[in-house]
Amino acid sequence: MSDIQTTFVMVKPDGVQRGLVGEIIQRFERKGLRLVGLRGVIPSEQLAETHYEVHKERPFYPGLISFITSGPVVAMAWSGVDAISVARSIIGPTNGREAAPGTIRGDHGMDIGYNLIHGSDGEDTAVSELALWFPDGIMEWNRDIEQWIYE
Ligand code: RTP
Ligand code: MG
Repeated sequence: MSDIQTTFVMVKPDGVQRGLVGEIIQRFERKGLRLVGLRGVIPSEQLAETHYEVHKERPFYPGLISFITSGPVVAMAWSGVDAISVARSIIGPTNGREAAPGTIRGDHGMDIGYNLIHGSDGEDTAVSELALWFPDGIMEWNRDIEQWIYE
């Protein structure tokens, strides 16, 4: 069990408004990822702008910031072997219309902007996003069922 990673995942305001928080959390739990952070927050402009700084010059950026700051999001940290890519495959590609059934976006989304959920796209972004959204740190705990998740 060498490549344990922790990734940042966030249910966006459309996912919260549509009552999909429980459904989304359940998918990560069932998969075998371990919940190490959970926080509800209405993001400030500054938080949203820092999170999406990489997209600052893109035409969709102003709309993205007003969307993300429009209401509550659920910020989460999930841990496991290759957690970053595992979470991205549970989530599916950006556009819900193109995402395969079985993924969160494929099963619940019809849009590229309103796509329900965010997941870190690499090790560096996972570290910086976790620090941004969980400034007080994440939970350190041992899960009793771990021996039945990994051989
Ligand atoms: P995310 O960062 O939210 O996990 O999504 P992603 O990696 O699949 O997509 P990314 O390219 O990083 O884009 C970030 C978010 O910006 C919005 N977006 N809107 N209207 C558009 O053309 C457009 N393109 C991107 C989406 O909400 C996307 O998740
Ligand atoms: Mg992204």
